[in-house]
Amino acid sequence: MIDKRTRIKIAIQKSGRLTDRSLDLLERCGLKYTRGRDQLIGFGENMLVDLLFVRDDDIPGLVRDDVCDLGIAGLNIIEEKRLEFQSQGSTDPYTEVCPLDYGHCRLAFGYPEEGAIQAIGDLEGSTIATSYPFILRDFLSQRNVSAQVVEFSGAVEIAPSLGRADVICDLVSTGTTMAANKIREGETILESQCILLKTPVAISPEKTEWVDRLLQRIGGVMQVRESKYIMMHAPKVALPDITALLPGAESPTVLPLEGFRDKVAIHVVCRENIFWETLEALKEVGASSILVLPVEKMLA
Ligand code: PRP
Ligand code: ZN
Repeated sequence: MIDKRTRIKIAIQKSGRLTDRSLDLLERCGLKYTRGRDQLIGFGENMLVDLLFVRDDDIPGLVRDDVCDLGIAGLNIIEEKRLEFQSQGSTDPYTEVCPLDYGHCRLAFGYPEEGAIQAIGDLEGSTIATSYPFILRDFLSQRNVSAQVVEFSGAVEIAPSLGRADVICDLVSTGTTMAANKIREGETILESQCILLKTPVAISPEKTEWVDRLLQRIGGVMQVRESKYIMMHAPKVALPDITALLPGAESPTVLPLEGFRDKVAIHVVCRENIFWETLEALKEVGASSILVLPVEKMLA
């Protein structure tokens, strides 16, 4: 039995393209958990955190209803459910804490290659198959297009060949599904990625500490993903040139170099990835012995 008062529950996708990345993120936050075979719950061993493995479509509702304190889902589902809940009169069903920078995909129109319809401008009076009826209807009404929306819970891409729709509106990641079905990808109506959701209900005092710590750690993991620690030697006078070259750099640590009066060692953390071009430019303004190291953990 999970103690609802003290243990935090996080809803994540049971199996799918987001599952591994979400688990990886939580493991990087220090979470160790055990999960029996086919079990829907993972018990946190070293934190007061349990994982609920569910269908991604169910995640927004579980967070809205405060069954889970946090949830990780794609913006496509979050937005679809938000519009659905809104249509039932419930506004602000959850807080979107932050984007997590993985699970990138887009909701886009798909036009059968041989079809008469090849652009948004031709959609008036057409039939569109989608798993995202709320987002699609919202988009169509904003554009003043009247079209019939047919809901498919999966395999949307076969709707045109079954004669059920003229065009589709579906998720695209690599584009292979549409291409394999002779459908040309059209306009994007929503850019999506994974988002961290939080319950609309105030977190109980017993749980606040761990929720705050977890959110801080997630922020830390996000920050270090691209971050680099850079060390180099350089003439003191080159310091302004060097800091100007480093993207997202914090104020550098400047250390004296034994035996040199005009030369210093510079250590700096960069929040963005460093490319060879930057190293070459650093060398050009006088830097030498340049080292770039990955950052493993960061706590602001
Ligand atoms: C989505 C979408 C397409 C496919 C597109 O399905 O419905 O079928 O991914 O990906 P691609 O552009 O890389 O080919 P998903 O795998 O999320 O399964 P689901 O629709 O059953 O949730
Ligand atoms: Zn799905």
